[in-house]
Formats: sequence, C-alpha cells, structure tokens
Amino acid sequence: MRVRNFRTAASAARALARDIARSIDANPSLVLGLPTGRTPLPVYRRLVDLHRRAGLDLAKVRTFNLDEFVGLSGDDPRSYQAFMHRHFFDHVNVPAGRRHFLDGSARDLDRECRRYDRAIRRAGRLDLLILGVGVNGHVGFNEPGAALVGPTHRTRLHRSTREANREWFGGRLDDVPRQALSIGMTAVLGAHRVILLAIGGHKARVVERMVSGLVTPRLPASFLQLHPAAEIWMDDEAGARTGC
Ligand code: GLP
Repeated sequence: MRVRNFRTAASAARALARDIARSIDANPSLVLGLPTGRTPLPVYRRLVDLHRRAGLDLAKVRTFNLDEFVGLSGDDPRSYQAFMHRHFFDHVNVPAGRRHFLDGSARDLDRECRRYDRAIRRAGRLDLLILGVGVNGHVGFNEPGAALVGPTHRTRLHRSTREANREWFGGRLDDVPRQALSIGMTAVLGAHRVILLAIGGHKARVVERMVSGLVTPRLPASFLQLHPAAEIWMDDEAGARTGC
C-alpha cells in the first residue's frame, strides 16, 4: 500500500482533486467510484472549481456511488444520491445517464444489487475508486464482521456507523436507517486504482491498523493491503500513529 502524507486536510483534498482531474484528462471515459461523507466534500468542491475555472470536462466520465441507505429514494434529501447531487453533480457536466446509484427504495433489494453489479461489469471495472474510511474500518458500507461479502449487497449498519451518519438525519439517531446497500469487496479489490482518503485525528487509530495491522474482515479497509495499486492519502492528524 502506498502511503502519501499531507500536512493539512486542504492540501490533501487539492492534490486528490488534481489527481482525479489528470486521470480524466488522460482518459475522458474514466469509470469513477465515488464516496460520500465529510471527507470527500472539499475534493468535490475543488473538482467543481476545476470544472468551472479550468475547463475540466466530465462529459464522458461514468460514475458509480458506493452505497445508499435502505428505505431512501434518490430524491429524499437525506439519501446519499441527493448528497451527491447537492455537492457535485448539480455543478459539473456528468450526463445524468452516466451517473450510477443504488436505489435504497427498490422493491426487490437483492435484484437492485445484482443490477448494480451488472452495470459495473458492463462499464468494465472501476478505473479509479475513491474511498473514505469509517472509524471502525468500513469502506463503502462493508462493515467489520466475521466475513466480508464479494458482490453488492444489503448490510446491517453498526451503531457506530449510524452514529457517524446521524448529522445527515438532523442529529436523530433513530432516524438513521439500520440497513444499507453497498458495493462489495469484489468491486473494491477489482478496481484498477484505489485511493483511500483519511482525514483527522479520529481516523489515526484505524489508519494505523489498516496500514500495519493484519488483513482481517474485522477491519475491511485492511484488505487494501492485498490490492496491487492501493494508496492511502492522509493528513498529519490521521497519520499521527503510523510514523509514515
Ligand atoms: C460513511 C460512508 C463511507 C464513508 C465513511 C466515512 O458511513 N458509507 O463511504 O467513507 O462513512 O465518513 P466520513 O468521511 O464522514 O468520516
């Protein structure tokens, strides 16, 4: 796993946006895997900026979001899909038909998961997958457990994950769904290149375990150690315990 350190969260976000933009310039039809959460927000802001001011063209890009809450449709403002529109898609030129989301309100969720895997397969693979990481080591919504799941699947969210997401639900834990849909480890490990961005002191412990601990389903992010082209980008606070 290649580790890159940045002094501040802002410099990491700027560098990541530049890297994504360069990847799109090199391959305009890039297939991008995209996360939600607080961590990628400054990256999306910077990409919007590059689109507006530097002519970054996303017309041929294809995007796949990683996960979605069960029970929320894409037009629910609390959904990850709505988050992505608010912070990114409403401000750039990725055509609607080239943005892919899981539908948490689908009547048949297993079928919805199979549909998503088919769409990823049809796109080839994820060329560049951007990940955040949960404080418990989850990536997407692949939660720690005795085993991990390969395909896109429905998952039960840990309490700590629901806690971490409560701000998108007006701070009300009871309103945070108990289940979610997530791409699985097959798509994560099958991505051509993966960049996991970890920001802030609250991620220092998980970063330390992910980089230098055992590969274990108890810490899904540790599986990136097995990926031939996985990078972990972090600010000084997130890297405080790794000595990297
Ligand atoms: C959420 C998302 C993940 C995200 C992670 C970290 O639950 N499902 O995709 O990477 O938790 O979020 P944050 O960046 O807000 O710390």
